[in-house]
Amino acid sequence: MPEQPRHSQHATTSLDARTVPLDPASTRTLADAGLTYRAVDTDGDDFVSYVQAVNRGFLGERSKPEAVEAWRETIGDRRPVGVFDGGSPEPHLPVATVNAWVDELTVDVDRLLPMWAVSAVTVSATHRRRGIARAMLEGELRAAADAGLPIAGLTVSEATIYGRYGFAPVATATSWTVKTHRAGWIGPRPGGRLDPIERELAQQDLAALHDVVRRGRPGEVAATPSYWRSTAGLTPGQTDGGKVRAVRYTDESGQVRGVLAYQLENRDDGAATLTVRALAADGPDAYAALWRFALEHDLVDTVRATERSADEPLRWLLADPRAAEVTERDHHWLRILDVARCLESRTYRAPGAVTFDVVDPLGFAAGRWTLTVAEGGAGVVTRDGAGDGEGAVVTLGVAELSALLLGGVRATTLRAAGRLATDAATAAWLDATFAPVAAPQLSLWY
Ligand SMILES: CC(C)(COP(=O)(O)OP(=O)(O)OC[C@H]1O[C@@H](n2cnc3c(N)ncnc32)[C@H](O)[C@@H]1OP(=O)(O)O)[C@@H](O)C(=O)NCCC(=O)NCCS
Repeated sequence: MPEQPRHSQHATTSLDARTVPLDPASTRTLADAGLTYRAVDTDGDDFVSYVQAVNRGFLGERSKPEAVEAWRETIGDRRPVGVFDGGSPEPHLPVATVNAWVDELTVDVDRLLPMWAVSAVTVSATHRRRGIARAMLEGELRAAADAGLPIAGLTVSEATIYGRYGFAPVATATSWTVKTHRAGWIGPRPGGRLDPIERELAQQDLAALHDVVRRGRPGEVAATPSYWRSTAGLTPGQTDGGKVRAVRYTDESGQVRGVLAYQLENRDDGAATLTVRALAADGPDAYAALWRFALEHDLVDTVRATERSADEPLRWLLADPRAAEVTERDHHWLRILDVARCLESRTYRAPGAVTFDVVDPLGFAAGRWTLTVAEGGAGVVTRDGAGDGEGAVVTLGVAELSALLLGGVRATTLRAAGRLATDAATAAWLDATFAPVAAPQLSLWY
């Protein structure tokens, strides 16, 4: 495996996940249960069975052949894995699935970490609660750690599944329903221009703008061209693709600064709902222009948006903030594998030192780690008591340390919840030094 630079500002995504071997311990555990754990061949029918098993796992319908082929074309260097039961009447159908790849996680402005992204975790309802998901998840984490990945991440169907493996929610997503006739607009009216664009251009703009914006926002990850193809409604076989509309915002100097992809539904009561599929804005002017476009759209009385941030500026653009109903939910979950690399990958806001005593049943992060923050904000981590005496001790689990990493979860909150042990002054210092540049956000699903 290529050596990962310790202080990488730019994540190393050159690692091809398909070259990461399957974990031998999980292979043995599953073999002892009569099951075969193996990589899926993305060229042949094996991949068709895999895709249909993932659909089954998420309660979806079977994909049409063109949709399977679209997925196959974009699988890239991802590592789909299946679990197969030789005793089944159709042993080529996986009874469990998982997919993983190396993504880029923003931990601070322009500070990126390579991240083992885990997705498509399903176990057939016929084989549930026998430890198959545990074997796959622990296998993914061991494989990632052995390959030198410092952190793993996922988005989840249920918030009850992944804490046991050391994952914690680090970024909250908010969902918005705005009654436009009540909202009013008190935001700026920027001088650039808005233009309708077709879906192909929207796909390009979304990809380009996300790639800029994500680097400044803790919690964001890189997305593939196929993700934006689907957001723009252009994936073959996509049923809602024809509904997608888009507008682009260009600033006064001619630079493309924002794009909104959305769809409209005419309701039986005669009004319409505008649903935001993606809104990418590079700066406050683009942000205001695109939201104003959505909120002042003729015939529309309701605007909906999901995967917005916990500190969404939209609240401050509405004359009547109560026109918006906002709900929030855990969204991005992270799991530290390499404590030193993760903690050293970001900058801190207040000098000082602290020693973390980390409990990690899987071992990767377990032990005593001292973080020393210099004036200027660089953090250095020493292991096993080398920094003893420099800082107060914080005792916590790997999930709690993972929760702290991006700064969206405060140490004082975890202390008040009994999820970490330290004195009040140390928790307050942790709040100050881990403070994020902006609330961590993940604007997409993976
Ligand atoms: C979630 C899912 C993958 C679990 O698979 P599984 O093989 O039944 O899980 P395991 O038998 O390995 O269970 C491992 C542990 O997780 C717990 N668990 C499993 N599914 C759970 C769920 N949905 N909610 C809460 N706990 C769950 C088990 O009780 C067990 O706990 P323990 O070992 O700490 O006692 C499976 O139910 C599934 O495919 N669900 C539908 C698709 C889905 O939601 N996938 C997750 C995508 S993010």
